[in-house]
Amino acid sequence: MSDTKIKQLLAELTLEEKAMLCTGKDFWNLHGIERLNLPSIMVTDGPHGLRKQAGEGDHVGLNAAVKATCFPTASGLAASWNTKLIEEMGVALGKECRAEDVSVLLGPGTNIKRNPLGGRNFEYFSEDPLLAGDMSTAWIKGVQSQSVGTSLKHFAVNNHEHCRMTVDAVVDQRTLREIYLPAFERAVTQTQPWTVMCSYNKVNGTYAAEHKQLLDDILVKEWGFEGIIVTDWGANNDRVEGVKNGQHLEMPSSGEMNTKKIITAVENGQLTIEALDKSVARVLELILKSQASLEANTVQADLQAHHELAASIAEETCVLLKNDGLLPVPVGKKIAVIGALANNTRYQGAGSSKINPFKLEQPLDEIKKQFGADNVSYTAGYHLNDAEDSTEIANAVELAKQADAVFLFAGLTPKYESEGFDRQHLNLPQVQLDLIAALGEQLSKTVVVLQNGAPVLLPFVDKTAAILEAYLGGQAGASAVAKVLSGDVNPSGKLAETFPASLDDVPSQPYFPGTTKQVQYREAIWVGYRYFDTTNTETLFPFGHGLSYTNFTYYHLKLLSGDKTQFNESDSIKLKITITNTGDRAGAEVVQCYVGQKSPSQPRPAKELKAFEKIFLEPGESKEVMFKLDYRAFAYWHKEKAAWIAERGDYQIHIGSSVNDIRDTATIALETGIVAEQPNFALATYFDPAKRDFNDAAFSALLGYDIPTPTPITPYTVNSTLGDIANEPLGKPLFDDMLFVFTQMMGGDQNDSAAEADRLMAESMVADMPLRNLPVFNSQQYSEGQILQLIASLNNKETAN
Ligand code: BGC
Repeated sequence: MSDTKIKQLLAELTLEEKAMLCTGKDFWNLHGIERLNLPSIMVTDGPHGLRKQAGEGDHVGLNAAVKATCFPTASGLAASWNTKLIEEMGVALGKECRAEDVSVLLGPGTNIKRNPLGGRNFEYFSEDPLLAGDMSTAWIKGVQSQSVGTSLKHFAVNNHEHCRMTVDAVVDQRTLREIYLPAFERAVTQTQPWTVMCSYNKVNGTYAAEHKQLLDDILVKEWGFEGIIVTDWGANNDRVEGVKNGQHLEMPSSGEMNTKKIITAVENGQLTIEALDKSVARVLELILKSQASLEANTVQADLQAHHELAASIAEETCVLLKNDGLLPVPVGKKIAVIGALANNTRYQGAGSSKINPFKLEQPLDEIKKQFGADNVSYTAGYHLNDAEDSTEIANAVELAKQADAVFLFAGLTPKYESEGFDRQHLNLPQVQLDLIAALGEQLSKTVVVLQNGAPVLLPFVDKTAAILEAYLGGQAGASAVAKVLSGDVNPSGKLAETFPASLDDVPSQPYFPGTTKQVQYREAIWVGYRYFDTTNTETLFPFGHGLSYTNFTYYHLKLLSGDKTQFNESDSIKLKITITNTGDRAGAEVVQCYVGQKSPSQPRPAKELKAFEKIFLEPGESKEVMFKLDYRAFAYWHKEKAAWIAERGDYQIHIGSSVNDIRDTATIALETGIVAEQPNFALATYFDPAKRDFNDAAFSALLGYDIPTPTPITPYTVNSTLGDIANEPLGKPLFDDMLFVFTQMMGGDQNDSAAEADRLMAESMVADMPLRNLPVFNSQQYSEGQILQLIASLNNKETAN
């Protein structure tokens, strides 16, 4: 966009218009300025389909969302490890946006899965920043190739749902740089998303929406981000502080409340017009870019073609966790399909990402198509609302006995997994576990097909013949599953997250999700496989794991740069390896490249994913895979130097089929000129993560300061939540009132579990809502003045007591 045009517009805009442009017009639209021919543009959810509400917008309701293609959610997408496919999905999403005049699609969800209990893990890619970053990059490239913007979210350190709107994430700088920021960094530096969405939470004491270090220093200055920083819906805390520190756009509309504050701040010199202009210039640029798309020829979206694309993506998101040889099942066998989810599939997550699919496949129908209706019988086996029913179980056992093979559909219903609240445990619903236990001997001919957005415990793992993780496969996920079961499709998904053997093994568990006011990231860099692999902790299934119906052999790992190298920041190491499909079916392998330093002076994971490639091979075919590792692949973040450092010394490069299945390793001595430092004894416990002794002293040494005291519940402030005041006589009516509003907003749904999830989400959204947001989400009823008065009254009462 030409600078001259922006300058011209800035010169013509009044202060009022400038302030207005930096706040939404309503829930989904930005302000336009008619006299300057600036249109009002629409931004909407995202990320695994278009959720455009045709009528009045609301927060999470599905009401009146236009029909769209529902693709698999992020956990499945990441399990495909196929960036090309994700980019194609992005193209399709971009087209659907263009067809509906949507200018920005709110995604991708890039946060790291710190703990499998995170309620929104289904919407995030991985526990690994490189994989999450590359998936996000591909998604953004695809959408933006259609001249539609994206919103990389939620920046940053938003790794659980509990009290997400106000909780303070306390995390040390090294962990921030190595675990929680790099996925965003990769996506920003490789694609320039049109927008980045800052998260609700605080990071080290400051709200993300006004966090100078995150927004201005890192995102804009270090990474060179040129787009708009938009608040998550209701994430703005102090509007003027936000503008000063790099937040460009507040969403949704806060009416005139915050616009007025900006105007006053400029008038009284608290905010410079230059600072405001910086935000306005970026908003103008977004509007002009969007205007070009809106005025260009209308793009037609071929929904049927997108359905087919969704099916082929789903084929690659299925992860074959276990197979003792039962799979694939030849057509002609007598199949018993068991499980209510086979006929009422769970295919997407609950919350703001809920798509209104234009069509939806059911596994039972697709299995009948695949295996012949005559060969397939079905019984529900359990109820989706968790009601116990021994007759259902008895029927299922009878049906199983008569079959050659059983396809048992299990998984999480929406109430177990949703935006807005975290999971309580990793178990499947008890009614499903009861059914599986009752199947007893029949399990030896049973394939358990899982529909869930995040890891579950599988106490029956040794008893069942096979387990297929289908994730939340989108509207066309069912045909993909049917084809994998029959062998028409050879599974090629690999886990992008560890399935732990027990929740207690997860290093963040003792501090997850923290208290209502603070969450301490005490486990630091020991997240996911970085912990399990380094400490040799047994998992249910490791990161990167996934079986195929064929076999791949790895040959001749060769370092192309020799084994001892002068190595500077601009250098890279190249290596190659040959992979052969030694089985008798075509298939795809995800070749994973991990790096570990041999004797690090700092706590470092034994292996970290630094590159990967998915290759397709015919039977007998071989391909050479080349990897190029740059300086960053060997470096850690040095807190004091505030820089990436690769110490001189030996490094191992492992090539494998999962983090636990390393097929070849090369050692390289790097002469980087940086001599290893003396280990810091205050951090001793972090060198030995197996002890899980992330005590106060060690955590504080890691932070470099005393562990902050959480914000007290009282005195109440604008950031107190409705949950905080719910037990106060003055607070209760507000809580109830907002609960009513949100419950209405959520609308009904087709089955009981979804309705229960909606209720739970409404409850948690209301409980977690800071008082400052009441005038934003219910402006008709509450003004800022009223809220301030209420807070004063609540506090007076406190003092009186
Ligand atoms: C979610 C965002 C979403 C936004 C708009 C927020 O509550 O965290 O991911 O894009 O609402 O629906």
